Order: sequence, then C-alpha cells, then structure tokens
Amino acid sequence: MRVAIVGATGAVGHELMQVLERSALHIDELLLYASPRSAGSQLTFRGQALTVQVTPEGPIPADVILASAGGSVSKALAHRWIEGGGVVIDNSSAFRYDAGVPLVVPEVNGEAALTHQGIIANPNCTTAIAVVAVAPIHREYGVRRMIVSTYQATSGAGQKGMDELLEQTHRVLHGQEATHKEFAHPIPFNVIPHIDAFQDNGYTKEEMKVVWETHKIIGDPSIRVSCTAVRIPTLRTHSEAITLELERPATPDEIRALLAQAAGVEVRDDPEARLYPMPLTASGKYDVEVGRIRESLVFDGGIDLFVSGDQLLKGAALNAVQIAEYLQTHGALRSAQRA
Ligand code: A2P
Repeated sequence: MRVAIVGATGAVGHELMQVLERSALHIDELLLYASPRSAGSQLTFRGQALTVQVTPEGPIPADVILASAGGSVSKALAHRWIEGGGVVIDNSSAFRYDAGVPLVVPEVNGEAALTHQGIIANPNCTTAIAVVAVAPIHREYGVRRMIVSTYQATSGAGQKGMDELLEQTHRVLHGQEATHKEFAHPIPFNVIPHIDAFQDNGYTKEEMKVVWETHKIIGDPSIRVSCTAVRIPTLRTHSEAITLELERPATPDEIRALLAQAAGVEVRDDPEARLYPMPLTASGKYDVEVGRIRESLVFDGGIDLFVSGDQLLKGAALNAVQIAEYLQTHGALRSAQRA
C-alpha cells in the first residue's frame, strides 16, 4: 500500500517516519509532502533517500494520508486529498468535533475508526495520553469526575517550540534576556498556565479539548472533566496529575493490577525505589507510564495517579500509525486510485 505524510519535515512528521519504519504496515511506497519551503529536500526511509514534494491541493495518490501540517492546511485541503480514494488520519483539531469524523485511540475505541467516511481525527496529545490510563478504569469502576493538571513539553508546539526552548535557554545561560514567539511568555526556567486561546468560560482551548475529547473517545459525556494545562520547559513528553472519583470504590492495588493488563500502559509505581513516571524515562517509549497510584484524600474510594506519555508518539505519530494498522487489520482501508 501507499502511505503519504503531509508535514513530513515537522516534529511529528519525523516521528511518523520512525514509527512507520518499525510498523507492521506493508508499505510499498512512502510519499512525503511539506510546504514549498522544504520541497526538494531529502529524507531517509528504510535506508532510501526520498524527496519531499509540495503538498498537493488536489487528490493524493495514497491509501493512507497521515496529516500533520496544522489545522488550517487540513481544513482547506483534506477533503481534496481523499478524492484519490485514500483515508486521511489527521493530527490537527480541524475535524475532531465533527459528527461524521471518528476521534480514535485504538486501545479505547478502535472500532469507531471503522465508521470513517474518509477522515479520521487523531486526538489532542494530552487527551490521548490520559485516556489510555483512564478508559480501563472507567470500564471497570465508572469514572464520575476527572480532574487533570498537566505538565506539557515544548514539543506540543512542534519543532519550533523545541527550538525556542533550546535557543532561549542558551541565551539566558549566556546572560541575555529570553524572548518568546511560540509561547505566551519566555519558557526557560518558567511554567506557563496558558496553552492555546482563552475561552469565554476562563478555561483555555487546550483545557477544553481534554473535556470534549475525553467525552467523545470514551463515549460518555456524563463524566465531569476539568483540566488546567501548563507548559513547562522540557523538550518532549507530557505528564499529567489525574484525580478520579469513581462509581465503585477501588483500591490502589486493584488499579495497579488492572492497569498492568491494559494495552498501551506501563505501570511504573515503586516510590521506595524512586520509580514513577517521568519525561526522562517515558520519552521515546510507545507505552504511557502510569504511577504514583494512591487513594484520593478528596473522593472516597477515588484514585490519584500520575502519567507521562511521549507527546510526539502516543500523543501524535504513534497513535496515527496505530489507527492505520487497525484499519488495515480490519480491512477498512479504501483503495486509492493509482496515479
Ligand atoms: P515546512 O518544514 O516546509 O515548513 P511543526 O509542527 O514541527 O512545526 O511542522 C509543521 C509541518 O507542516 C512541517 O513539515 C511544515 O513544512 C508543514 N507545513 C507548514 N505549513 C504548510 C503548508 N502551508 N502546506 C504544507 N505543509 C505545511
């Protein structure tokens, strides 16, 4: 089959190529697209140099189109790309809340992907990482309320976000004042409780994405969700402190045993041995680390936990490729017309 990456030169594009190299997908040809700025440059896939082309404004001759070039590009062009018969798995927020577009984390609601009509949305990174840990708990114990506080890496703002962290940290270490472009304030030695635009209710859009997308992926809008989303000066991997109120009380041991069996989760929870989730250990990992599992002091029978998941992998590239694998396994790929 043919696979295309739109936004191949970006941070997620880079990870997509790495994940595809290790994937079980049968890829006959990989097509790489980006903006005219990087057209003609070469990237290596499975030892072969491939040339980056300008993103088409019409059909893309591929069975699977992995799009990660931002919401405005997807919004303007995704419907044109699929006129070639392929399916777009879109990493932006352009289509996530459209009724006819499945929003998919394969471990949680893979079957939703099978209902696609040409476009499937990949969730917001923070939500994807959270639901891998929370959905199994919801299935067993029923989550009534979920309070999330995030520690989000600069990779959430793409390659430019990571570059800004490194460049501005270098400036500060050399006695210069830090400036900012990708973030609302200088990011070195700072934490910024402001990701995406503020909404009328005082929450940011990033925080509301966690609410809306948790409901859509888990398929239960009755769960009360609240989030505070904070950018921190790390390169990659988002962490989240999550408090859950449950329908049926659970003990930390029961949650540990449940999550030890859950797909996509690595329980890393031995505080005595200083074992808990961290960006340092979760970066580059496919599984989401879950630890610090303990009884809630606020909700009787509730649970507190901490997760770290690689934003560029489970929060983006890996999840997108897993959706493609799910479609292939279940025979739900449309057959692209060969150009
Ligand atoms: P380019 O490298 O040519 O600018 P990131 O999220 O890391 O910033 O990456 C964004 C990706 O989206 C890059 O591959 C970038 O290509 C691509 N991109 C940005 N704007 C466009 C556009 N208008 N059309 C196609 N690709 C785009």
